[in-house]
Amino acid sequence: MEYVFSDNLASLKPSAIREIFKSLSDPSIISFAAGNPSPLSFPSKELGEISADIFANHATAALQYSITEGYPPLRTAVADRLSRIFGIGRDFDTTIITSGGQQGLELTCRALCNPGDVVLCENPSFIGALNAFRAVGAKTVGIPLHEDGIDPAELEKALQEYPNTKMIYLIPTFQNPAGITTSAEKRRAIYEIARRHSVIILEDNPYGELRFAGEDVPTIKSMDEDGIVVYCSSFSKILSAGMRVGFVCAPDKLVQKMVVAKQCEDVHTNILFQMLCHRYMTERDMDGHIAGIRTLYREKCQLMLDCLDQHMPKEIHYTRPEGGLFIWCTLPDCIPMNDFVKRAIERKVAVVPGTAFNCDTEAPSPSFRLNYSTPSDEDIRRGIQILGELAKEMLG
Ligand SMILES: Cc1ncc(COP(=O)(O)O)c(C=O)c1O
Repeated sequence: MEYVFSDNLASLKPSAIREIFKSLSDPSIISFAAGNPSPLSFPSKELGEISADIFANHATAALQYSITEGYPPLRTAVADRLSRIFGIGRDFDTTIITSGGQQGLELTCRALCNPGDVVLCENPSFIGALNAFRAVGAKTVGIPLHEDGIDPAELEKALQEYPNTKMIYLIPTFQNPAGITTSAEKRRAIYEIARRHSVIILEDNPYGELRFAGEDVPTIKSMDEDGIVVYCSSFSKILSAGMRVGFVCAPDKLVQKMVVAKQCEDVHTNILFQMLCHRYMTERDMDGHIAGIRTLYREKCQLMLDCLDQHMPKEIHYTRPEGGLFIWCTLPDCIPMNDFVKRAIERKVAVVPGTAFNCDTEAPSPSFRLNYSTPSDEDIRRGIQILGELAKEMLG
């Protein structure tokens, strides 16, 4: 049978990260390639206790169909938390529950974009979002990401060049893959430009609660007086990634369309896990739990930076994140990134090539992404030493 795929999906390639995951079945490989939260960050015992109580006392609610917008007590708890922590949510906003943050990104694009419409993105950006936009037929156009975010002047230029831009997709805090945080000044400037051009900002903030150094920066959604910002996040990096519970806070009119689209996709997010999230948030020490994750990642990030400082030649540059899960390394011109990543795998160290995060899938990249949340301390020490030796060899 000759399968003829839809135009939307024909051009999509499997995520390079998923492909690298396949090679990770070899237990001798040290992986810095994942984007997973640390296995130490799951409150398994407490979630088990709550789960047992749900099955003992509320089994019907947990096992029955539920409403598309989400489990009402969880929606309220999330909206309260967003307001308390990030100053998010105005009269015109509604908060709904999605199946992971990923679904919120996809639903936003599905609600707003026609095939051929442009989504402006930081370059590099999160591959899951880029693929979701492409699957809807949108065109992803990259704006270079600098140390403190994209340049507002370049955003303005791109909006003039692409008048059919529907959204600006940003991960302003502890960006994936680059670990960069957009400055408050740039956030304000970007908001103002989007407002002037009547373009929606999709603010993706799954790492926002994982700051372990530096000062908080206001979310773009907290500036949203005009109803132009859609805010997406999830429990994946603060409670459990496998539960697949995320949320969106956005203007109600837009949310209504997203809910119709969600009905077609999965009817509603897994109700048992929504109940678990709600009970954990309201009955246990959520803030204390997240503080523990921050401490863990502060130590892991510092260890990886110390090892990089010790082993990497000075020609290799890397970001120094203040939160999140990733460090972004950039090689000098004389070391081809693809060769470096291939030779690293031969030495049993896996990293993600920067090309996986490019808006333009054909463009080269001198960079690769390192994750510090999942590997053991021993693997961080050994793996970074191997990468350092490889970089020195390739420098000659
Ligand atoms: C920037 C960004 N947005 C969204 C997601 C998706 O999160 P979830 O696992 O909740 O779908 C991720 C996951 O790694 C991410 O890095």
